Amino acid sequence: MSFPITRMRRLRKSAGIRKMLQTNHVLPENLIYPVFVTMGKNKKNPIPSMPGIYQFSLDLVREEIEKVVKAGIQAVILFGIPASKDAQGTGAYSSEGIIQQAVYVIKQEFPELVVITDVCLCEYTDHGHCGVVKDGIILNDPTLELLAQTALSHVQAGADIVAPSDMMDGRVGAIRQALDKAGFSETAIMAYSAKYASAFYGPFRDAAGSAPQFGDRKTYQMDTKASWQQALLETALDVEEGADMVMVKPALAYLDIISRVKEEFLCPVVSYNVSGEYAMIKAAAEKGWLDEKQTVLEMMTGLKRAGSDLIITYHALDVAKWLKEENF
Ligand code: PBG
Repeated sequence: MSFPITRMRRLRKSAGIRKMLQTNHVLPENLIYPVFVTMGKNKKNPIPSMPGIYQFSLDLVREEIEKVVKAGIQAVILFGIPASKDAQGTGAYSSEGIIQQAVYVIKQEFPELVVITDVCLCEYTDHGHCGVVKDGIILNDPTLELLAQTALSHVQAGADIVAPSDMMDGRVGAIRQALDKAGFSETAIMAYSAKYASAFYGPFRDAAGSAPQFGDRKTYQMDTKASWQQALLETALDVEEGADMVMVKPALAYLDIISRVKEEFLCPVVSYNVSGEYAMIKAAAEKGWLDEKQTVLEMMTGLKRAGSDLIITYHALDVAKWLKEENF
């Protein structure tokens, strides 16, 4: 197999031939759109580090969700900004909490939309950590009960899928058990399985007001220099504990992990194209340094090819629109 017998350019000769050979297609139904909801009325607060993304109060979120549904996107993942925070993150599992209310309101109006909820404490704790803190330590086991309560309250409000993002050991099992016990054995868990202690979450923490007030998340989220085997072990544990889908997060710096997870596991693989990845593209596009549409579509294709069945992305509405516009 060598030149001049083989010429790769023969199969790139025309748009028609190239199109025939395309095997990686992103569809609107592969996308999950993150939505930030906040207490209060008539609020559409822009997030400076994430142009185009807002925190919506529940009276205004409807309009945004309508766009999602019209775009052919099947699912949203909800993040909440509570009215107040405390050490135990009570707002996360209160039946009157922001997510519980948001799920109820959205499902009333859009019963067919798949509503996924992020299950974590960091947006609700005054210290900003994803678990219960004692003497500066993030405690694992006492956190499990609160996460399970949080997940259950989301499901009771009508959530279709819960997505634990905290990275405590044993949380998937604890949530599965709590859901089963309450009669929700048919509700799926999308586990943030290989979630790294990444610098790419910066803009999200502005959006959700969830930056840790001391230290960092390195004692629970994965080390960015850890072996790929560790990512597979995290994923295997989640699957064993009852995860129905597994996630790799962030996406772009961890394409190898997405690919390995896809090869190793039979369940659907989700990748999270996170806030910092979004901000990079937006900033460069604003300066006229990159073609936003083409770079984003290329990125989505790459995530798909690496093995993502589903992609959580802040670009979702734009991507769905672009896919319709042009036969990409
Ligand atoms: C909550 C959570 C975070 C993200 C999703 N769920 C922040 C974090 O772990 O600090 C990040 C999402 C993004 O950056 O887009 N634990």
